[in-house]
Amino acid sequence: MADEQTRHDDGGGVATASDSLSVTDNRTGESYEIEISDGTVKAMDFRQIKVSEDDFGLMTYDPAFTNTASCRSAITYIDGEAGVLEHRGYPIEQLCEHSSYLEVAYLLIYGELPTREQLDEWVFEITHHTFVHENIKKFVEGFRYDAHPMGMLLATTGALSTFYPDAKNIDEDAERHMAAVRLIAKMPTLAAFAYRHNLGLPYVYPDNDLSYPGNFLSMMFKMTEVKYEPDPRLEKALDVLWILHADHEQNCSTSAVRSVGSSQVDPYSAVAAGVAALYGPLHGGANEAVLRMLDQIGTTENIPDFLEGVKKREEKLMGFGHRVYKNYDPRARVIKEHVDAVFEVTGRNPKLDIAVELEKRALDDEFFVERKLYPNVDFYSGLIYEALNLPPDLFTVMFAIPRTSGWIAQWREMQEDPETKIARPRQIYTGGREKDYVPIDQREKLTDKPSAETSLIDPGKG
Ligand code: SDX
Repeated sequence: MADEQTRHDDGGGVATASDSLSVTDNRTGESYEIEISDGTVKAMDFRQIKVSEDDFGLMTYDPAFTNTASCRSAITYIDGEAGVLEHRGYPIEQLCEHSSYLEVAYLLIYGELPTREQLDEWVFEITHHTFVHENIKKFVEGFRYDAHPMGMLLATTGALSTFYPDAKNIDEDAERHMAAVRLIAKMPTLAAFAYRHNLGLPYVYPDNDLSYPGNFLSMMFKMTEVKYEPDPRLEKALDVLWILHADHEQNCSTSAVRSVGSSQVDPYSAVAAGVAALYGPLHGGANEAVLRMLDQIGTTENIPDFLEGVKKREEKLMGFGHRVYKNYDPRARVIKEHVDAVFEVTGRNPKLDIAVELEKRALDDEFFVERKLYPNVDFYSGLIYEALNLPPDLFTVMFAIPRTSGWIAQWREMQEDPETKIARPRQIYTGGREKDYVPIDQREKLTDKPSAETSLIDPGKG
């Protein structure tokens, strides 16, 4: 048990007796002092609370970790009530105005803004690692023509681990650095290869003369021209979008990277776990789902009926709501400011009118207001991606590219954290106990597992 005067490792003052919980177990009448530090109590401090010597002791129960801190981190700060987002203490609005995605990636990973020399070296390294092994093309060609690009990105990201076996030396800083450079450099190449495969177009190799976003646009859209010349307004818009998507503290995919990475697997495999988690429609897949939702609504006249459907739980208002933000997602606000700049180049996306009216009506509706549901980062981003002529199933790939730097930063921080151990949660067991085996001829049918003939097999999918 912590004594009364306990120094915290957060650099704060000495704890006083008031920095604790006094807990009484009414089953036994026993009382316990549980230390409070950094606004938390340690779950393990509850294990001492038992009803008998052979009692395992109390655990905490928190499915989805809605109120559980899994780590200490200095990378991203979010104030959900105030709608504040900072990376290493720098407000996202200032980074979008003054910085670049690669500079923010450096900031996330190495903890401070780079000097001019450090940034030039960082950009040079990334620019010169954008190629992937030629064998990667064989993996991509093994997919159906209509394979979802997130499925292809998931596979090819994991496959990278087989080309860089030394990345298993996760304690070597040089290996950690090279994994960061290679992952950040190659994600746009893997994404563009997946896109070109879907269209049956030849792959476009990286062009080292172009910026990071410019090179991505070239690998995506270059056709017969000798040299692709990206529109600087689109380069800037992409760069800002990628800054906005770079990191977001312990979100679902970052938690996946940390959990998988805690087994000390190589960083490519850990990041592949992040790609898999981001793929889900409740997470990174929401930007694609927003566009499909806007298509389903069709016109602003249909918005009232759609919102009634949401309130009856028949629909979800995709791109709205957030586990942490109970205010306007600051990233959505910045994206909305950049929408018009993109439309100057691409032409206006008429779905913006539906999105703006949908937001207005939702924010005027008690159902959404009382649940503190506001637009999140995914609500407007898809409109820009669609205006860039990207297909909806590539939108989440556009999220995965920049989130790679956040995943790598969080993975490194975890590796350097002395408190890190392999992630292995407990459970509340609800199943049967100590059953005797039943010979098969004495069993009665107790389960209704769907048999093959009842499961829908789409003949087109084989
Ligand atoms: C991202 O964590 C991160 O930081 C993620 C992210 C990042 O950068 O990594 O910010 C990126 O994933 C953004 C979120 C993208 N997802 C969506 O837009 C999908 C739609 N949103 C919802 O599914 C939902 O809001 C979540 C998943 C984002 C958050 O869900 P929570 O925190 O578990 O909240 P909840 O489901 O408990 O909802 C609370 C209430 C419920 O109503 P009641 O049952 O209490 O009456 O709000 C309702 C929910 O039904 N609700 C919604 C809603 N979101 C929540 N109702 C309708 N539409 C919605 N979008």
